[in-house]
Amino acid sequence: TGGFTFDPGFTSTCSCESAITFIDGEKGQLLYRGYRADELAQKSNYMEVCYLLLNGELPTQSEYEEFTDAIRMHTMLNESLKRFFTGFHYDAHPMAMLSSIVSGLSAFYHDTTNTADPEHRKIFARRMIAKIPTIAAAAYKYSIGQPMIYPKNELDYSSNFLRMMFAVPAEEYEVDPVAAEALDVLLILHADHEQNASTSTVRLAGSTGCNPYAAISSGIAALWGPAHGGANEAVLKQLSAIGDVSNVDKFIAKAKDKNDPFRLMGFGHRVYKNFDPRATVIREHCHKVLKAYGGDTDGMLELAMKLEEIALKDEYFVERKLYPNVDFYSGIIYKAIGIPTNMFTPMFAIGRTVGWVAHYLEMISDPGMRIGRPRQIYTGATERPYTDIAGR
Ligand code: CMC
Repeated sequence: TGGFTFDPGFTSTCSCESAITFIDGEKGQLLYRGYRADELAQKSNYMEVCYLLLNGELPTQSEYEEFTDAIRMHTMLNESLKRFFTGFHYDAHPMAMLSSIVSGLSAFYHDTTNTADPEHRKIFARRMIAKIPTIAAAAYKYSIGQPMIYPKNELDYSSNFLRMMFAVPAEEYEVDPVAAEALDVLLILHADHEQNASTSTVRLAGSTGCNPYAAISSGIAALWGPAHGGANEAVLKQLSAIGDVSNVDKFIAKAKDKNDPFRLMGFGHRVYKNFDPRATVIREHCHKVLKAYGGDTDGMLELAMKLEEIALKDEYFVERKLYPNVDFYSGIIYKAIGIPTNMFTPMFAIGRTVGWVAHYLEMISDPGMRIGRPRQIYTGATERPYTDIAGR
């Protein structure tokens, strides 16, 4: 290996030092700056958690007010940016719109791209967190042929997003507090997860010194895949395909069949080998939300729980330590509160934006930062002479 370590999939390579998030995969522990994510989900709110991830400490009352005011101030999009949406085909996936439009922010906010300036870094962070829900909701509105709803900044972060998704112009819209609370919990639990694929992508892109918005856009692209954030959408499609508890055994058998590429979506994790603490909290919230919305009317929760129960008794899943992950139950909540399936991964992106931003800022503030540049094991041809086209 020429003195290099071969580590496909980076299962044992640490790419950086970080003080943001700690995971103990054996214990099923997830800490944001030392605080348990499940405790934060119960007692805190998403804005506080954003402040914590960015600054290392929970905010005081005045810090909290200054931060939330600043986020509210940045929720609007430049009017010219609105034209980006109309360039997309009406059935474009919202993740395609999200990554492109966030990349487009690079061309609008030159006043925050001098990463050597702490003030620029601060405004970039706040802009990114404030604008991502506006962009995601506008992408949805465009896909259903409705006008974009502007942010209403007296609302909290989650309520504002729900209003931008579901209100229509000239009509009153009351945000359901059950939906807003459930969304806030989901955003907290998705806020950061140390060096996952999308965060590593943000760091790698950012290490070149590229525009910060472009670095975040690369993270959104990486999140989209079904092995990562795209799993939440895939879970719900899979549950719909299974359709009924009586079909669970058949699908479990498919997931175990090594000649079949089928996987149980929302199951398994590179780091968690015992349980995913996020999934446990989300499952509890599923019950609460469904209760408020008249029960498990489509039977999705019952089906998911049956799937979990059968899988967790099966030798295949036990041996490989495959447990439900964050994506397994989140879609059931999203569906209950009216979020369409193709918006599930953008919901993940909204929550994770603060994590990407915190990691990006941590990286560029590190005086020892170097460009990310992995090596390879070359397996191609050895040197050979060029043959003219007539002689091939
Ligand atoms: N269904 C069936 N078998 C599975 C599954 C699954 N969901 N996940 C892993 N396995 C098997 C896999 O076939 C392999 O078996 P064997 O040892 O016989 O070859 C073994 O378990 C280890 O799997 P792996 O693919 O080497 O594990 P990984 O750490 O590279 O991948 C993962 C982790 C999350 C990509 C994978 O478990 C997976 O594809 N899960 C389904 C997709 C999913 O839910 N992704 C969301 C992850 S959590 C949130 C996020 O990151 O966005």
